[in-house]
Amino acid sequence: MRFAVFASGNGGNLQAIIKAVKLKKIKATLALVFSDKPDAFALERARKAKIPTVQLSPKDFATRGEYDRAIVSVLKEYKIQWVVLAGYMRLLSGDFIDAYPNRIINIHPSLLPAFKGAYAIRDAFEYPAKVTGVTIHYVVEEMDAGKIIAQEPVRIDPKDTLEKLANKIHKVEHQLYPKTIATLIK
Ligand code: GRF
Repeated sequence: MRFAVFASGNGGNLQAIIKAVKLKKIKATLALVFSDKPDAFALERARKAKIPTVQLSPKDFATRGEYDRAIVSVLKEYKIQWVVLAGYMRLLSGDFIDAYPNRIINIHPSLLPAFKGAYAIRDAFEYPAKVTGVTIHYVVEEMDAGKIIAQEPVRIDPKDTLEKLANKIHKVEHQLYPKTIATLIK
């Protein structure tokens, strides 16, 4: 199987996936890294690992539909069969999702359905919850919805700072995502 990783920023999860592919823990081919942001550090990580990259900016397209259609044609060109979102900060259109039925997954830093949205770690910390965690789920049009594939809890200790909690969550992400991808995409 050939899969693509989509990332908008740092690419910590991407790095963990690259490592798992190298170690053959993931048996599929990471054939493309895509980003909406030209300055995403994830793109640098991909280039360093000699993985093909494509970057398209939404502002260069008239509508979200046009943007997503352009991405889908890139995916077809690279013969991509699965799409792995890893810190991709845009919603996918229905047409995009229909092009990859049950073949698009996302990682979210909370125990969904709690703490949806872009500030899930901060929101759980400030609530304050005692437990939060990591969820991997199929992507549907609605944000952070879709069938749950895997979850792992992370305790919020009274001594945790927001930064400490974020580090704990990222550590779990970097284990759970490659492990889940290995079971799904082969
Ligand atoms: C992760 O916390 C992920 O769960 C969320 O965005 C963050 C991306 O981090 N969707 P990175 O770019 O993988 O380092």
